[in-house]
This record gives sequence, structure tokens and C-alpha cells, in this order.
Amino acid sequence: MTQDDAKRLVGEHGAEPIEPDMTVGLGTGTTATQFIRALGARNAQTKLNIRCVASSKASADLARSLGLDVVTLNELPRLDLYIDGADEVDSQLNLIKGGGGAHFREKIVASCSDQFVALVDSSKVVATLGKFPLPVEVVKMAYVPVQRKLDALGLNPVLRHEKGTDEPLLIDEDNYILDCHCGPISDLEAVSSEIRNIVGVIKHGLFLNMTSVCLVADDDGVVQLKV
Ligand code: A5P
Repeated sequence: MTQDDAKRLVGEHGAEPIEPDMTVGLGTGTTATQFIRALGARNAQTKLNIRCVASSKASADLARSLGLDVVTLNELPRLDLYIDGADEVDSQLNLIKGGGGAHFREKIVASCSDQFVALVDSSKVVATLGKFPLPVEVVKMAYVPVQRKLDALGLNPVLRHEKGTDEPLLIDEDNYILDCHCGPISDLEAVSSEIRNIVGVIKHGLFLNMTSVCLVADDDGVVQLKV
């Protein structure tokens, strides 16, 4: 099975637990896109009467184009479920997210949801988080001092650029991303708090103790991981 097939499969599974009248947070990225498409298709077949909050403009636009009802988090401050992809997941269901640069909004929507269901293909399941560069969203006017401080922590931060250009990537909230090529992170809580304490950091992409269930797709189908 290709990675794209696995993303489609797990996206379809992610849409299955959605019941009528639920309130649902929509993630961002290629896997979340598959989930949103599957949810849109289910809703087109049988009206589910669900209301959704999206973690990015791209996901909101996609969901609306499929006929889903998308409202703001301020209209719907508590959600039943948040469903999203991830860049890495460990056995405790801690995640690295933000490969698509949307982890700040994703963390907000996830934190307002009773349950967080992560959707991944099996290549993203790791023993220790950190092979995937850890994204840190920073205030644009302070990215250089923040980068120096992250460097001093040994986290090897690199400013993310627009693909194929020398321009820094500007994300939804008008901030920049520093990707930390830090390698395996042995103490997640310590690194999380060290990064969080730097003034100018908006949010990092470590999602610790937030995931309720992780669905993992591989050649044999989809398995469910729980802590
Ligand atoms: C978006 O910022 C990310 O958190 C994505 O959810 C995560 O990077 C997974 O993306 P893919 O499903 O595209 O691999």
C-alpha cells in the first residue's frame, strides 16, 4: 500500500465514528484532507446534522465546498471530537505536529475537544519523537532572537521557507516557523517547557498527553492504539 493509500484508508476510518448531531474539529494536512472528504461524502449520503470547526482556512474551505457546516470556535467553544493527522506518534500517543504549519490553531481546536483522534500511516509510528523536525511557531519580529535561544538549547532551529524560494514562509496567523532538527527527544516535558518559556514563541508542535486514540493504517488495514 502506498502512503497516499494509507492516508485515504485511515481518513475514511476517521470519519466512521462521527454520529449525527456531533460537533467536530477538523484537522489540517493531507491525511486530514482525506478524513474531511470522507466525512463530506458520508454527510452527502445521509445528512448528519454535524457542526464543524476547522483548524485552518484550507480545511474550512474544503469542508464548506463539500457541504459541511463550518462555524468558528467562538460560536462553538466545546467540541465532541477533534480529528487530525500527525507527523510522528510514540507509544504514549504523544505527537509531533506542524509539518503543514498549522499546529497553533490545531492545538487550540484540539484543546477545546473532548476527544482527539489522531490518524497516521504506520511510517509515522516511532519509538522516540524527534526524527521529524519539531516545528516552533514564532512571532515574526523576534524570529532571530528566538532562533538563537533555541540554538543555545541545542535544538538546531532552521527558518522554514516558501517552497523553492528564499522567502520565509508566512503562515495563517502571520507568523514564522522554526523547524528544530534536534533528533530523538528523550525528555519531552523538559523540551516542551524550555521552548514554551522563550518569549516570542507562539506554540511548538509537541502535543503531549492530548491524544485519546490513534488510528494507524498499514498493509493489513487499520489498527487502533490507545494508552
Ligand atoms: C499540519 O500543520 C500538521 O500538523 C499536519 O496535521 C501533520 O503535519 C500531518 O500532515 P500530513 O497528514 O499531511 O502528513
